Amino acid sequence: MSVEFEPLSHRWQQDPYPKYRELRDHAPVHYSPESDAWSVSRYEDVQTVLKTSELFASRRPGPRELAKGAPGWLELMRLALRFAIRFRTAPWKLNRSRMLISENGEAHMLMRNIVNRGFTPRRVLSWEKRVRELAAEGLARVRAEREFDLVTAFAVPLPVTVISEILGVDGAHRDDFKRWSDAVIQGTGSEMGRIDGPAMDAMTELFAYLRPVVRARRREPTDDLISVLVTHQGEAQLSDLEVLMFVFLLLLAGNETTTNLLGNAVDALLEHPDQLAKVIQDPERVPGLIEETLRWDSPVQMVSRRATRDLELRGIRIPEDAQVVVLLGSANRDERRFPDPDRFDVTRDSRGHLSFGFGAHFCLGAALARLEAKAALEALLPELPGLERVRPEREFLDSYVVRGRTRLELRPAA
Ligand code: HEM
Repeated sequence: MSVEFEPLSHRWQQDPYPKYRELRDHAPVHYSPESDAWSVSRYEDVQTVLKTSELFASRRPGPRELAKGAPGWLELMRLALRFAIRFRTAPWKLNRSRMLISENGEAHMLMRNIVNRGFTPRRVLSWEKRVRELAAEGLARVRAEREFDLVTAFAVPLPVTVISEILGVDGAHRDDFKRWSDAVIQGTGSEMGRIDGPAMDAMTELFAYLRPVVRARRREPTDDLISVLVTHQGEAQLSDLEVLMFVFLLLLAGNETTTNLLGNAVDALLEHPDQLAKVIQDPERVPGLIEETLRWDSPVQMVSRRATRDLELRGIRIPEDAQVVVLLGSANRDERRFPDPDRFDVTRDSRGHLSFGFGAHFCLGAALARLEAKAALEALLPELPGLERVRPEREFLDSYVVRGRTRLELRPAA
C-alpha cells in the first residue's frame, strides 16, 4: 500500500499521529519525492538510525543538496557570505567553526566533552533553587491576571531567564537577551534564512554583546557557563566564534523545546481531567507526567540525518548522502514498543521515549529541561483545577519539526 506523506510539509501538523500510524504499518521506511527524503517511523528503526552514526551522520548540507539546482545553491552561498559580513568574520572561519549538533565521530566527542562540563549533574542540581524561584515568580505573574496566556506569561520566560543566568548574561542585558532569543526562535519558522529578517538582526546584536563577554571570560573566568566553555585547555579548544555558535544553539535547542513541553503538558492535562486529578492527588507523579508528555506529544517531532553510503533499511535502498528524516514523535507512539500508545496515561512507564534523541547526540540539556518542567509544573498544577480554556480551539506552532501551542489562554472556571 502506498502512503502519501511529505515530511517537510505543514499539512499534518495539527495532528500528525494518524499519519504516523499509517506510515509505521504500511511504509516504515518511506520515500518522498517531493522533499527527496526517506522517513523512518518505527521505534526500532528510529533507535537504529540514531545509534548508528557511522551510517547515519549529523551534518551540514551535503554536496548533493548544494548541487541540487543553481537557485538554492546560489541562495545558500549568498546567505553564508552576507552572514559572514554581518558578523564581521571571514567566510572560511565560519565554514571551519564547529557546531556541536552537526559534528560526528571523534570531532563531536571532543566538543561534547568540553560542553558536558557545563552540564554535569552537580551543576544542574546547583541551579534548582533559582529555577524554583523563577517558577514562583511566573506563578505570581499569572495569578495577578484574571485571564492570561500561559505560554507568553509563564512557559516562555522561564527557560530564557534560566539560560541567560546560567550563561552569565549581566542583569542590564537580561531583557535584551530575552528579546534576541525570542526573535531568533521566531525566525526559525518560515522566516528562516532571511538575512534581513528580525532573527538575523537579533543574532547580530546578540553576537555583538557576547563577543567581548567571551573575550573577558578568557582573560578572567568566573563560574558561569561561558567561562566553563572558554577555559578548557587542549587541542579541542573552542574558538570565540564556536562559543558564540554554541550559545546560539542553546537558544534554539533549549528554549522553545522547554516552553513547548510545559504548554503540551498543561494542554494534555486540560484534555484529560482524570489524569490531572491523579497528579493533583499525588504530586510525586509529576516526573511521570513529564515523561508521559514527552512521549505522547514530543516537543521535537523529528531530527535529520544523512546516509554516509548506499545502504538498506527494512529492504528499502537508501542512497549515499540521502536525507533521512527520523520521526521521534512516531517512534514514541509505536504500538510495538508502548502498549495502547495513543492513550495519555501519567501512570504508565514511559521510559525509553526518544524525545531527547538517542545515542551520541542525546540532548545535552535533558536534565535541565526536566528540572525546569518539574519546578514549573509543581508550582502551577494546584491552580489548574480552578482554570478553564478561554477558547476551545487549539493553535499549533507553524512548524513540522517543533510541536507546541502558540497560545494557551486560561481564566477562572465558571
Ligand atoms: C523538553 C526540552 C527539550 C527537548 C525535547 C530536546 C530535544 C533534543 C533532541 C531530540 C536532541 C537530539 C538532536 C539530534 O539527535 O540531532 C537534542 C540535542 C541537544 N539539546 Fe535538547 N531538548 C530539550 C531541551 C534542551 C535544553 C534545556 C538544552 C540546553 C540548555 C538543550 C540543549 C541541547 C543540545 C546542546 C543538543 C545537541 C547535543 C549534541 O549534538 O551532542 N536541549 N535535544
